[in-house]
Amino acid sequence: MEIILVVTGSIAAYKAADIARRLIDEGLKVSVAMTSNAEKFIAPLTFEALTGSPVFRSGFPLPGEEPMGHITFSRGAQLALVAPATANFIGKLANGIADDNISTMLMASGLPLLVAPAMNEKMYNHPAVKQNIDTLEQRGAIFIGPSKGALACGDVGEGKLEDVEAITSRVIEELELKRDLRGLKIIVTAGGTREPIDPVRFIGNRSSGKMGIAIAKAAVMRGAEVCLIAGALEVDPPEGIQTVKAETAEKMLEQVSARFDGADALIMSAAVGDYHTAHVPTGKVGKKEEWDIKLVKNRDIISEMSRRSRSGQVIAGFAAETDDIEKRGREKLLRKNMDMIVINDVSRSDIGFGSDENEITIITRKGETRKTSKMAKSDIAEIILDCLARLVTGGETVSGRKVCK
Ligand code: CTP
Repeated sequence: MEIILVVTGSIAAYKAADIARRLIDEGLKVSVAMTSNAEKFIAPLTFEALTGSPVFRSGFPLPGEEPMGHITFSRGAQLALVAPATANFIGKLANGIADDNISTMLMASGLPLLVAPAMNEKMYNHPAVKQNIDTLEQRGAIFIGPSKGALACGDVGEGKLEDVEAITSRVIEELELKRDLRGLKIIVTAGGTREPIDPVRFIGNRSSGKMGIAIAKAAVMRGAEVCLIAGALEVDPPEGIQTVKAETAEKMLEQVSARFDGADALIMSAAVGDYHTAHVPTGKVGKKEEWDIKLVKNRDIISEMSRRSRSGQVIAGFAAETDDIEKRGREKLLRKNMDMIVINDVSRSDIGFGSDENEITIITRKGETRKTSKMAKSDIAEIILDCLARLVTGGETVSGRKVCK
């Protein structure tokens, strides 16, 4: 797991070196970013020596340097910790000010945020700072400290950087909380399959792959070892996740099948085509008045995996429906012998295929139903994984073929 440690310009900046070292000792990869004021208190070289990686620095990139560093630096990280955090930096975060490489990078990261403030007591208790902290807390940021004690300015009061031990424990706790899928191997399929009808044409569908990718990313964040099996995607596959291409339904079946026995869960979010062409000509078919194409039914991946699954494996499928969505979804859950099904209404253009948002109904084999409101696919992914985690850890998998509690 990787954490971004942002060091800002406080006398307590030297303690960030100890924080970095302790987090590395915990087995984390620590990537350090420093504001230019932080560099006045402690040299980047200290962190580079500790972490073995270059520090992400404040100035905007010079010609020849990575131009998109503020976007790419945080990719692969699970959490950002600002320690020590000055009043100025807290103010920037709360008010969306992105005036240097560090604030821009944090804003673009979308990472869960932990903030350990360090400043004079009067500054800490200033209404502007209090309001900025409230704003960030309302957005989900977690504040660690400050504690009370002798401050660098000679005052005694609240504003001292929290103990290094307490900061690192809070970081670990935060990462652990989200790691309920640790040790699990999960196969996630995403995107739409394409069935060739000649060497240049295919029959495909409108799946973008965004939902499957959101699930794969969220599962990795929660500690799972994920293999993403991708059909055609409208978006780039995520960096740092093992991704295998499988364009046709047959190839997808092959790739899932090769990994299924060793997996704890299979999440079939790909829109797998129902048919393939009986015969694919070797050359491009020229224009003609009519073209009859014979389609043959594809093998069903979920049904085949379900038949050979062992006790405790969880299979989650999707249903993209336009009418009678719950009834059809429930019927599909039973017909394909899944543990849970995620149903979405593809007749709506504001959600589902291609969209960044979704609204779903989950039904489990035990008959539990969970409906969501319309929300970002990343949030939907967490809800799907909450349900899956319960099935995996609770042994609440399908009757007949496996344990049913
Ligand atoms: N699926 C599969 N193998 C296939 C087709 C679909 O494993 N050959 C999976 C999908 O990934 C999805 C679930 O089955 O998780 C339901 O897909 P859907 O296309 O809705 O199911 P179909 O059985 O094809 O039903 P319909 O007749 O509605 O197309």
